[in-house]
Amino acid sequence: MSQLPKTPRSPAECLSAELLQEVVLGRTTRDLDLDFRLAQTLSGSIWRTIDGGHKWMHYFDIYDREFSRLRGTRPKVLEIGVYQGASLKLWHKFFGEGTMIVGVDIDPSCAKHTDPDRRIFVETGSQADPDFLARVLGTYGKFDLIIDDGSHVVSHQIASFNHLFLDGLKDGGIYWIEDLEGNYWEQGHRDMEPTTVDLFKYLVDLQHAVYRGTNYQDFHLTGPTRRDEFKVPRLATLVDRITFQRGVIIVDKAVQSPPLGVHI
Ligand SMILES: C[S@@+](CC[C@H](N)C(=O)[O-])C[C@H]1O[C@@H](n2cnc3c(N)ncnc32)[C@H](O)[C@@H]1O
Repeated sequence: MSQLPKTPRSPAECLSAELLQEVVLGRTTRDLDLDFRLAQTLSGSIWRTIDGGHKWMHYFDIYDREFSRLRGTRPKVLEIGVYQGASLKLWHKFFGEGTMIVGVDIDPSCAKHTDPDRRIFVETGSQADPDFLARVLGTYGKFDLIIDDGSHVVSHQIASFNHLFLDGLKDGGIYWIEDLEGNYWEQGHRDMEPTTVDLFKYLVDLQHAVYRGTNYQDFHLTGPTRRDEFKVPRLATLVDRITFQRGVIIVDKAVQSPPLGVHI
């Protein structure tokens, strides 16, 4: 039998040389029919009619896939980062009549994008300010979808998640962080470690916390040592699904909390 390695290995050391071989990425936009590509998705086909914004092209596939289940349900959406109001218009059209959208932005000039007739409201403050976020939740209650497209500063992304995921998102809701590129740039946005990406990788371990120090018998209905109680961090009961896609983290908040620890 082969010996298990005694010293811990980094994840990269566990991958084959072929998988780690460097490849060259070319430019992709030169010959691409962007209009055609945008028209392939609902969110993209709306986006091409709106001025004043810019987004990574591949987000539109993900928006369609992740957000479609909220269309036509009159969801409440909180978006951090208003800029010129383009995405507020996108969400209004994408989710349909009756959707309530609350934008927050540190720039007071963004307040002009408030449009009560369309149930679009803009609040001025920082995504890293817990008192401001608490006031927003006090005014509007919990949301079905929270989108962080604000400063893209690591400490801000983490502060917003800490203040909004528990108290600001409904059970079954979606927490979305976009533009993670700054996590990989040495200066500016990456102002602390662990980064946002590191933290959500750790969240995958928290999601599995109930398995720490247990075995199958602890969960088995008829097992001799079936346990009735498992101690896990609260967050472990709130996270249903964590999705990483390039530049984006999506966390679905669990509907059932705490999860049933039954193995049959
Ligand atoms: C990428 S833009 C938002 C784009 C918009 N979501 C769109 O797609 O049209 C980022 C916005 O975040 C705002 N911002 C920067 N720092 C912030 C902070 N600490 N809190 C809230 N908003 C912030 C900026 O003023 C800017 O308007």
